[in-house]
Amino acid sequence: MPALAQVERLSTGVPEIDKMIGGGIPRGFFVAVTGEPGTGKTVLCIHFMAEGMRVRDLCIYVTTEESRQSVLRQASQFGIDFGKGIEDGKMIVIDSLMGIDEQWSLKSLDMEELVNKIIEAKKALGYGRARVCIDSLSAFWLDRPAMARRYSYFVKKVLAKWDFTVFITSQYAITTSDAFGFGVEHIADGIIRFRRAVRNGVLRRYLLVEKMRQTPHSLNLHEISIRDGKGIVVLGPVQERKEDVGLPRQVAERIIEAQEKKEAELP
Ligand SMILES: Nc1ncnc2c1ncn2[C@@H]1O[C@H](COP(=O)(O)OP(=O)(O)OP(=O)(O)O)[C@@H](O)[C@H]1O
Ligand SMILES: [Mg+2]
Repeated sequence: MPALAQVERLSTGVPEIDKMIGGGIPRGFFVAVTGEPGTGKTVLCIHFMAEGMRVRDLCIYVTTEESRQSVLRQASQFGIDFGKGIEDGKMIVIDSLMGIDEQWSLKSLDMEELVNKIIEAKKALGYGRARVCIDSLSAFWLDRPAMARRYSYFVKKVLAKWDFTVFITSQYAITTSDAFGFGVEHIADGIIRFRRAVRNGVLRRYLLVEKMRQTPHSLNLHEISIRDGKGIVVLGPVQERKEDVGLPRQVAERIIEAQEKKEAELP
């Protein structure tokens, strides 16, 4: 039987992205959504949650770099009402930015506290298929980037037992383009990579599915646009080579080498 037929898939909420990955994200997958600042990671998470609510999946959104209010406002600009989802008991937004003392906030960026809070949220929402976005997981290792892989592995292992399909965002610093999210990517079942470039004085955004296990996925870089009232729109495949919108290979290799050296020095 072909791979597509055997796998239950969850729509990302962006139909053109679903087409690139054989219909959607396989249930239970741990997907890294990576890219430079402002490229569309949070917007994709918002689509993934909105679609989840539509099909009655339990939805949990962990926000570490924006407040809950900011995420709600951003969603509403794309016509998505997270406030109502929360009221109706379909969604919980865990705020890890504000450090406030309330049920759905994290007081610190602690990995175990995060995972326990997500499980508590799932229990509160009910029984069944669930989606979680952790936006971003890299916030948890800001002070210890070499721990990225170990942290990601821990999260993946625990959440896998709870019927979650997981989006985790991680950043690529401009200077270390191909290496910062390095720890997540070997562990992830899928990698959706956003990129950006300035062409003729205009900021352009791109998306590339770099990995999706059990999926005959698109290998093309696609140009995307983020539109008011709508969110992510896929404009189509582009001709540029990956090298044209990334770092030169030698630079990327040097950064990865440095990262590996740092990891090897860990206890
Ligand atoms: N209402 C809107 N209309 C059009 N474009 C918008 C709108 N809201 C946000 N954007 C675009 O989306 C961008 C932000 O995208 P997003 O928040 O997904 O980035 P990100 O990849 O999560 O970045 P970061 O790593 O900084 O969190 C903005 O910089 C802007 O260009
Ligand atoms: Mg973001």
